[in-house]
Amino acid sequence: MCGIVGYIGESTCGKPLEVCLQGLQRLEYRGYDSAGVALVNNQMTQVAVRKKAGRLSNLIDDIQRESLPEAIGAIGHTRWATNGAPSDVNAHPHTSSDGQIAIIHNGIIENANTLKIALQSEGYVFSSGTDTEVAAKLLGKIAQLVIEETGKPDLFEALRRMARMLTGAFTILAVDVRQPNIVVGARHDSPLVVGLGQGENFLGSDVAAFVAYTKEAMELGQDEAVCIDAHNVTVTDFYGNEVHDSHRFIIDWDATAAEKGGWDSFMNKEIHEDPAAVRETLLGRFNTKGDIVLDEVHIDEEDFRSIDKIIVVACGTASYAGLVAKYAIEHWVRIPVEIELAHEFRYRDPILTSRTLVVAISQSGETMDTLMALRHAREQGSKVLAICNTQGSTIPRESDAVLYTHAGPEIAVASTKAFVAQITATYLIGLYLAQVKGTMFRDEIHQIIEQLNAMPDKIQHVLDTQSEVVLEAAKAMKDAHSFLFLGRHVGYPVALEGALKLKEIAYTFTEGFAAGELKHGPIALVDAGEPVVIIVPSARGRNTLHNKVISAIEEVKARGAYTIVIAEENDPDVNKYADVIFWRPSCPTLLSPLVDVVPLQLFAMDIATLKGFDIDKPRNLAKSVTVE
Ligand code: M6R
Repeated sequence: MCGIVGYIGESTCGKPLEVCLQGLQRLEYRGYDSAGVALVNNQMTQVAVRKKAGRLSNLIDDIQRESLPEAIGAIGHTRWATNGAPSDVNAHPHTSSDGQIAIIHNGIIENANTLKIALQSEGYVFSSGTDTEVAAKLLGKIAQLVIEETGKPDLFEALRRMARMLTGAFTILAVDVRQPNIVVGARHDSPLVVGLGQGENFLGSDVAAFVAYTKEAMELGQDEAVCIDAHNVTVTDFYGNEVHDSHRFIIDWDATAAEKGGWDSFMNKEIHEDPAAVRETLLGRFNTKGDIVLDEVHIDEEDFRSIDKIIVVACGTASYAGLVAKYAIEHWVRIPVEIELAHEFRYRDPILTSRTLVVAISQSGETMDTLMALRHAREQGSKVLAICNTQGSTIPRESDAVLYTHAGPEIAVASTKAFVAQITATYLIGLYLAQVKGTMFRDEIHQIIEQLNAMPDKIQHVLDTQSEVVLEAAKAMKDAHSFLFLGRHVGYPVALEGALKLKEIAYTFTEGFAAGELKHGPIALVDAGEPVVIIVPSARGRNTLHNKVISAIEEVKARGAYTIVIAEENDPDVNKYADVIFWRPSCPTLLSPLVDVVPLQLFAMDIATLKGFDIDKPRNLAKSVTVE
């Protein structure tokens, strides 16, 4: 939800502020209700804090109008409001009563009210409505107690003591003018990674915070605290026991990958990276014989062979990727695949055994609902395989194994290239299972792999040939008040995803349905001019399915709908019922979601652009949902 960055370096200069503002720029996709920074140096008696409601640009303008002092250390925050409305006063950082400590926070402190009442009874006064200010005042109090006990300031110890008192989810970073040469942090159910530099170190919600300065990073585990100075990184548990086995990794993408690079929006750039996302996710996953090799997935072949059920847990777009996987994996592997919204999963007592493989799909690797679902699955004795796009994130770290998608950083809140990469990863898992379980002949698997390898070019073909038609359709439909999306078989999750994109960024009431469901209710919504988007499967080998969807188009057309149809090139049956056609190049039906979603991503983006909305930062949303 919120984005967090921390920096400490060797010398007093403008760099701490620069790192914070650059980091916040790259993290702004995590929340954009307000932004703020806190700076410390040797001469200060109080932390220098500046914060502003609204976009990061408001804060930057404010700092340009009135500059901040030079600093050694700094923390910065970009907020997605959970607790207290978006305003200057609720923006982070928050300070201790004496102004010597400042903190930033991501998450929700569930016992904040109880702590606040106790502090108020001791005379503490609060100016904001946030749980974070409670933590700031409490940390100030504990830091003072530590000084009284030991005769010297110890912010790291004070933070650990406070972390032990908090319930809920939090990542907290803190600075103290009495120890301006350190930045400390603690995490519980909320992300924090360390960036390792030369004569400087960094903290961030994710590696985007510091990738412009260092590629070396370190994961922090659950319930760990960290203290960075210019040369050292110390990690402990909340009781002060040192942790020595933190996992280090090299960030595998460049800072430029998280820049727009000439595109008008990240979403536009990322849709155009769909082909590369699929290609990169397939890369290196086959041996010279053409068999799938998933060595990085540290699950024994024997364990894979024994799997008799898959449950996919995910949210939003990632869950629709899981729904595509159901059709493919059940067909190839002949085992049941259930797909469950992660937030529903653990509340319904799911049937899990050691032979159930739970697949947790998440672009960010930080979605709290998905994290909670996978923890529940592991507690019940099932193995969890994560499909994730973000190195150093919590979901892969807490899973038994991970298959990374290589879509590169996805910045736009609306997920696009991650979706096609996730689908690709599920195909790899399905085909791998078919290979180890022997449910398909090797040559059949090789044929599908060949078709899969051809998909990036087909996606490119859609981008090259359909973008204009999509834009024209968007112009015609930009003022529509609602849309219906219909699909059958693998077209159904694509319909759901197309509908979600339009809701998210064009703020239009849109529903996705299984086309067969139309006559059971939704057709009542169809009136003259109602736009209905229909995904038509190929007629080749899927004739019955194809004909049934054509009938659905006929039915809505007969009631005056404006029909936008996705169909295979040269399909003669769609012309007479379609007002607009987005053509797909011929490809196997099970792989078709990879191409069919592309015009729908473009369509949502074009409509939102024509309406003048912020494509990358839609209202009320954040990229990574780290609260339940
Ligand atoms: O990071 P995750 O893949 O776990 O996120 C899951 C959903 O929150 C995410 O897909 C959301 O629905 C997107 N905004 C969709 O565009």
